[in-house]
Amino acid sequence: MDSLLEKIGSLSKSEQAECAKHLMLGGGTRGGPVLVRGQGVRVYDPEGKGYIDCTSQSWALYLGYANAEINRVVAEQMQNLSHVHQGFDTLPRFYLARKLAQIAPGDLKRVSFTVGGGLAIEAAMKIAYKNTQPSREFICLYDSYHGTTLAMMGASWVSTRAAGKLVGGSRFLGLTRPFIRVPNPYCYRCPLGMKRENCSLACVQILRLTLERGVAGNAAGVIIEPIQASAGQIILPREYLEAVRKICDEFNVPLIFDEIQTYGRTGRFFAAEYFGVTPDIIVLGKGFGAGLPIAATIISNKLEGFQPDSEELHTFANSSVAQVAAAKQIELLENGILQNACRMGEYLGGALKGMQRDFPEIGDVRVAGLHIGIEFVRDPVSKEPLHAEGKAIRDEGIKVGVIFGLGGVRPNVLKIKPPLIIKKSECDEVLEKLHEAMRRVLRK
Ligand SMILES: Cc1ncc(COP(=O)(O)O)c(C=O)c1O
Repeated sequence: MDSLLEKIGSLSKSEQAECAKHLMLGGGTRGGPVLVRGQGVRVYDPEGKGYIDCTSQSWALYLGYANAEINRVVAEQMQNLSHVHQGFDTLPRFYLARKLAQIAPGDLKRVSFTVGGGLAIEAAMKIAYKNTQPSREFICLYDSYHGTTLAMMGASWVSTRAAGKLVGGSRFLGLTRPFIRVPNPYCYRCPLGMKRENCSLACVQILRLTLERGVAGNAAGVIIEPIQASAGQIILPREYLEAVRKICDEFNVPLIFDEIQTYGRTGRFFAAEYFGVTPDIIVLGKGFGAGLPIAATIISNKLEGFQPDSEELHTFANSSVAQVAAAKQIELLENGILQNACRMGEYLGGALKGMQRDFPEIGDVRVAGLHIGIEFVRDPVSKEPLHAEGKAIRDEGIKVGVIFGLGGVRPNVLKIKPPLIIKKSECDEVLEKLHEAMRRVLRK
């Protein structure tokens, strides 16, 4: 056996178990198949069984597996340059920076690249902090997730006493940064116990009070996921985001949108466009690189940016290969893929709402393009969360050949976030398999 890939591909089950003993994993929903190859929206296990992947692998493979156009541009670029030190200019970096400035909303025109989402939010925090001195505190929302680097862990629900237990990040409290968290507009289960019809956005008033009286000095920034993904696919109301924008202006606090999961997925490049609210800083990651590690922080021209004196420097922050992949993907998104995300999102959303007739356990269907979540409850009145059933439905899904997302704060929320290239016939397959998985768990 000559080729390394052949050697790897022929690892027996017992060898795999032996290898696994050397792995140390800090997270991720386990229990799925071992993956060996993928094509389009499907991924295959060693026995050749195929699964439609509604997780897009951490919601990041917008163009699915083994996209020929991305593979081609990556292979071509690999012949020229791959890794380049941040201090050297390259044509792909020039091109991608200008392209992002062209598609970004408002006056967000300057970009810093890095390798992952957590680091990109940290970069946003550095910029916000620099521009608000004297300041110290950052504000984020209940149930938010902004990564697990030491700086971001304190902003993420994983450091919260969440879902009745202390998890992950709480073990590092002595090392993480304290964030001030304010109530999120999770209107299906309002944390303030109010109803949307007559709440007058009380949660936004709490943000206002916090900026007025709950911080020492200026606040350094407000960090928000416009759709709280790990929180359970919570789509923030447009009027909430509009009100936050006004309040941030009033207090002169930079508004940071963590668009690491929303970039492209709502059917628009940015959730900022989807909601019609422009922040001061947008952070991208995940799907931005078509599966290659690259993240970006895009800032308003009004803000002072980085100085080139090691304020922000990472060895792999200038991968020309990831940059051409990101740029090629933008071209493809512009040429029909974003429209497809809108169309398929509407189609799936309509069908899921239709399923509520047979399955009242689907308490809420939340759809913004292909950013979709369904929340399982005992019944629509009590809204008692069906945590065990959520996991069981995911497990049955895997048996019937579809991988749904789960996890985060609310294990009763199933996430349906396939690659943006999904076709209608593939959506039908997802719906059939979901129906079967729900039937097995909820009607046994
Ligand atoms: C909204 C959001 N922000 C930040 C992150 C952190 O990104 P990364 O895992 O690339 O550090 C994630 C990752 O899941 C995320 O979903």
